Amino acid sequence: MSLAIVPGSFDPVTCGHLDIIERASRLFDHVTVAVAVNRRKSPLFSDDERVQMLTEACAHLSNVGVTRFSGLLATYAQSVGATAVVRGLRAVSDFEYELQMAHTNRRLCPDVETVFVMTTTEYSFLSSSIVKEIARFGGSVEGLVPESVRQRLRDKLRP
Ligand code: PNS
Repeated sequence: MSLAIVPGSFDPVTCGHLDIIERASRLFDHVTVAVAVNRRKSPLFSDDERVQMLTEACAHLSNVGVTRFSGLLATYAQSVGATAVVRGLRAVSDFEYELQMAHTNRRLCPDVETVFVMTTTEYSFLSSSIVKEIARFGGSVEGLVPESVRQRLRDKLRP
């Protein structure tokens, strides 16, 4: 059975992330969305909130689970017997960082392949940072994030 990990910060999950997760769920038998915790940058949403939002957003995907991991992605992927790590590419500008990460992970764990999936053009500009910026200044993020995330952003940024 093939298992893919879709790792990320997901602070918060966007429709672009969801697009990648859905594509991965069609390619692999099982997909685990893994939220990176204990990172240096302090996220807007707590680990629990990020896992919760993803769990709600992925509820319609029967072969997708959500969890968290800390430490090295390669160590985590190996420990769960992952076949692949799936990362989304929006534009050429993503490529350099993603290539570096893929080579690093291959060096650390040669058995786990990195698979790049192209985001739909509709979300090629979208990131969690852009979403937070829009929400912070009262703009609409409708259609950019799942509905439950929209509500949480409102509660968090404009109480
Ligand atoms: O959503 P992001 O911030 O682009 O996700 C990046 C993430 C969390 C996948 C990456 O930073 C990561 O894998 N962190 C875990 C630490 C690690 O394994 N670092 C070495 C790979 S460069």
